[in-house]
Amino acid sequence: MSRSLKALFLAAEAEPFVKIGGLGDVAGSLPPALRRVSIDVRLVLPLHGVIKKQGLPLHFVCEFSLPYKKKEIIVKVFSLEWAGLTVYFIDGTPISPTAPVYSSDPLADSLKYAFFSLAALRLARELDWQPDILHANDWHTALAVYALKQLRATDPFFASTASVLGIHNLPYLGNGSSALLKAFGLSPGRHALLPKWTQTLPLPLGILAADRIVAVSPSYAREILTPEYGSGLDEFLRARADSISGILNGLDLERWDPLNDSCLEKNYSSETLADRKANREHLQAEVGLPIHADAAIMGMVNRMDYQKGMDLLPEALTGLSLLKQKPAFDWQMVILGAGDAEIEARARQLESEFPTRVRVVTRFDVRLSRMIYGGADVIIIPSRYEPCGLTQMIAMRYGCVPLGRSTGGLRDTIFDYDQTRESTGFLFEEATPQSLLGGMIRALKTHRDKQSWRELQLRGMAQDFSWDRSADQYKKLYADVMREFSKNPEGA
Ligand code: ADP
Ligand code: GLC
Repeated sequence: MSRSLKALFLAAEAEPFVKIGGLGDVAGSLPPALRRVSIDVRLVLPLHGVIKKQGLPLHFVCEFSLPYKKKEIIVKVFSLEWAGLTVYFIDGTPISPTAPVYSSDPLADSLKYAFFSLAALRLARELDWQPDILHANDWHTALAVYALKQLRATDPFFASTASVLGIHNLPYLGNGSSALLKAFGLSPGRHALLPKWTQTLPLPLGILAADRIVAVSPSYAREILTPEYGSGLDEFLRARADSISGILNGLDLERWDPLNDSCLEKNYSSETLADRKANREHLQAEVGLPIHADAAIMGMVNRMDYQKGMDLLPEALTGLSLLKQKPAFDWQMVILGAGDAEIEARARQLESEFPTRVRVVTRFDVRLSRMIYGGADVIIIPSRYEPCGLTQMIAMRYGCVPLGRSTGGLRDTIFDYDQTRESTGFLFEEATPQSLLGGMIRALKTHRDKQSWRELQLRGMAQDFSWDRSADQYKKLYADVMREFSKNPEGA
């Protein structure tokens, strides 16, 4: 029997240990899914302050040091068995116990994640566990891929390790790292099409060095090759196009299940969809909106970031309230999101503009997010770009119909009501308030037709967003990249 393929999976965040956004969902559910398809995967995370505080039963694994400038930084590694796999936690002075997972200080973050990336790679050697695949994710861990390529030339231990770089969010290149390469003994990257200003940044260097690059949806894999979405790297990415593919994220169907969600007032499934009514009322009561059975409740659960297009909302809602529609649309809106202070403040202002209709909660609140998925009628996702997006998939699983901009993973997972009988939601084209308003009007009109709406909900709930299909695709990709790599170890 052939042995299991070994994959070392690095991420800045992973549920249930720590989650800030979708990367946390993915890194907390893809490794267990890979385990289920017989990949011997080990997950490595930074021992962030928020994880330390949880008092997990961690075991000490080993201690070693990394050369940094003319000194050394001590690395301490701990582990835990979880979901059938070993999770390692890296500790050391750059991972401050008081710093957030992502801080507003690019210098501190870039040192933390460069240290983490290089320590995680070195860990494999300390454990004498030779990975077939190094799978890094986003800028935070991309330097491990770059360092691996340099190490392969000199260190037989890593000579047969191939690399995969997951792109969850291209525009975050890892600014602030320029002096770090030299400090950690790495040389800058060179490529005729790699813009000079990016030659010391982790994500571009990871893209330069990776044997395969995986974007988190097929549409995003194509989009990043264009000037509009390429963050200044599109020409360089086009040169690497043969190594770029897209694999859609899955959902952890146990973690996201309306039949077993303790945050809901009443659990339900597609067979008991009428029970959802109790959750609508519970949501209205929770946020202090009038309990109104006919109102279409629109929800939003998003990081407050320019990416998410929150700024399109005020004008779209004003447009909605000025419509001369007869009978007038009855709508309410619950917005949950945290992040950029200015975007949060603008969102909160909507409450005073629409006191009987809009409620805004600007914090990270898992319970309220689940109440929105389980109680709102429509989830609004007006993203400027969306590599994959999990909110629309979670919403569909909960019978909450998505209205999203036709971009990236939203385009790949939402089938538009006017375009197909298999529709699961609504798509709009332009990142403008008018285009969003057009989508809202279509959704609200359809919501009036109870039968059509129910069918839309049921089709969404019947979608297969499980990780199984994507895990199989990753397994095949790992096997392909190893085969290619063994034929041509110099790689890209
Ligand atoms: P991104 O990774 O760009 O933030 P995704 O749609 O992939 O977007 O994932 C967002 C995840 O974070 C979802 O699980 C969503 O429910 C969750 N989330 C976002 N904002 C909040 C919030 N304020 N409170 C609770 N959960 C949130
Ligand atoms: C990113 C993207 C989001 C994606 C998530 C997980 O943060 O913004 O679209 O779903 O990563 O891959």
